[in-house]
Amino acid sequence: MNVMQRAGASAPLEIRISDKTYAGADGNAVQAVKGLDLSCPGQTCTALVGPSGCGKTTILRIVAGLDAKFSGEVTLADAPIEEARIGFIFQEPTLLPWRTVEDNIRLAAPDLSARALASLLDQAEIADKASRFPGELSLGLARRVSIVRAIAAKPDLLLLDEPFVSLDEATAKTLRMLVARILDDHAVTALLVTHDLREAVELADQIVTLTARPARAKSVRQISTPRAKRTAAFRKKLLGQIDRDAKSR
Ligand SMILES: Nc1ncnc2c1ncn2[C@@H]1O[C@H](COP(=O)(O)OP(=O)(O)OP(=O)(O)O)[C@@H](O)[C@H]1O
Ligand SMILES: [Mg+2]
Repeated sequence: MNVMQRAGASAPLEIRISDKTYAGADGNAVQAVKGLDLSCPGQTCTALVGPSGCGKTTILRIVAGLDAKFSGEVTLADAPIEEARIGFIFQEPTLLPWRTVEDNIRLAAPDLSARALASLLDQAEIADKASRFPGELSLGLARRVSIVRAIAAKPDLLLLDEPFVSLDEATAKTLRMLVARILDDHAVTALLVTHDLREAVELADQIVTLTARPARAKSVRQISTPRAKRTAAFRKKLLGQIDRDAKSR
């Protein structure tokens, strides 16, 4: 039984990072996060938006349990984050080049049935790429594989670090729609890092804008309108509101 099944599906992700300081190679300390205190409701998507270098990847790595050198605490459903099953979609797809698409996914999700795999590949529109190797794929296709790989393992928590950067707008749009569908269908708790407010407004249920380094929350806004019902006009209005929030402090 995983963490979420134990604690109830909508239990929150709590992130408290009072301090994260790197010891720089030149001997100077770099404080990346200071006084961040966030509650992300279960089965919703929280977007962290902030300027380049403010500490976004640092926060995701801490939440993923990949970096334990910080002051604070991260829990999912009141349990230490180490107990949670986490799907991480990195900015770089990080696929194993000597394994096929199917094997890359199976490695992360050994119990996945053939039917479930086929359905996920279908959803991501890469059914015809199952026996290809990562080197044969464009960046957009490789990102699709890494999205499928992350969700295939049925994670308690899905972490996405700038999953749409360096893509042309048409590909980025297709992938945003794929992620939106996954968020709706799988009811997973997700944390999406982006520097692009428009992505956040399209995908998130809660948007947190971060200060410049060291990162802390500058504004938090909840969006109750379902993703599918967010019209262009709605998104534009919200963008304006968040922009004002960000400038008001
Ligand atoms: N391993 C490290 N050692 C020293 N300093 C680091 C290390 N990793 C990150 N930093 C510094 O911490 C700060 C935050 O980095 P981080 O990668 O978290 O920012 P980011 O918001 O993800 O940036 P970007 O938008 O460019 O992806 C930066 O000043 C960075 O140089
Ligand atoms: Mg980053």
